[in-house]
Amino acid sequence: MIIIMLGAPGTGKGTVAGFLEQQLGFKQVSTGDIFRKNIQEGTELGKLANSYMVKGELVPDDVTIQIVVDRLEQPDVQKGIILDGFPRTVAQAEALNTILAKKGQKVDMVLNLTTPEEEIIERIVSRRVCENPECKTIYNTIMNPPKQEGICDKCGGKLIQRQDDNEETIKARIATYMEQTSPLVAYYQKQGVLRTEEVSQRIGRLGKDIADDIAGEIKNGNH
Ligand code: AP5
Ligand code: MG
Repeated sequence: MIIIMLGAPGTGKGTVAGFLEQQLGFKQVSTGDIFRKNIQEGTELGKLANSYMVKGELVPDDVTIQIVVDRLEQPDVQKGIILDGFPRTVAQAEALNTILAKKGQKVDMVLNLTTPEEEIIERIVSRRVCENPECKTIYNTIMNPPKQEGICDKCGGKLIQRQDDNEETIKARIATYMEQTSPLVAYYQKQGVLRTEEVSQRIGRLGKDIADDIAGEIKNGNH
């Protein structure tokens, strides 16, 4: 099964994908996490990706598509994959459809998360993430703090703030989303696989609620 997490920065793609991974046993694959791991390790890919990420711009399509093509071949994603943050352009979506068609597969669900912009900025500046690449658990110093400040509840790793999580870069990331990624909403709507969910404190619906609903439906064979 192929699930795509779509949505502006900070809408909760990583949070919901994490819950879905736990409940369904499908593998969460975040292109942002792959780039950040490469930055940490100082690889050539990391250097290239960082030059775009610090400005809130997208990493070029050819580079990003190849990463996902390779990842889709690996054994741990054969049961199911939750693509978190890919595709992000129409060219990436077209490439994904072509790759999947060759394997006799298709996109089963696109989960489009929406959150009011003021709430996004508030969330992003208070986000902390576990620096352990095997864990990467997401916290929020206001909404979802760790039990001990600065330490991951799950693995004891150090919690850090992402380099692109400042107010200036987040505004650029939102603008990039509006310009280059938001056309994918209509694109997947046309394909009949779009499901839009508002994740907002305003309506008291949290990422866990959405993941519970979807995991329940999938387990009951409703997709
Ligand atoms: P990426 O890592 O994908 O970042 P993003 O899209 O900007 O999204 P975020 O990870 O910031 O937010 P999220 O939606 O996962 O929210 P989260 O669950 O953490 O990409 C980073 C960069 O990499 C891009 O800018 C680009 O340069 C590059 N890149 C990546 N993929 C690419 C691609 N395909 N093509 C080209 N370039 C690519 O939640 C946010 C915070 O809110 C957390 O603190 C969380 O605890 C909190 N929270 C979550 N849900 C709720 C809720 N319901 N109520 C209150 N707080 C909540
Ligand atoms: Mg994320």
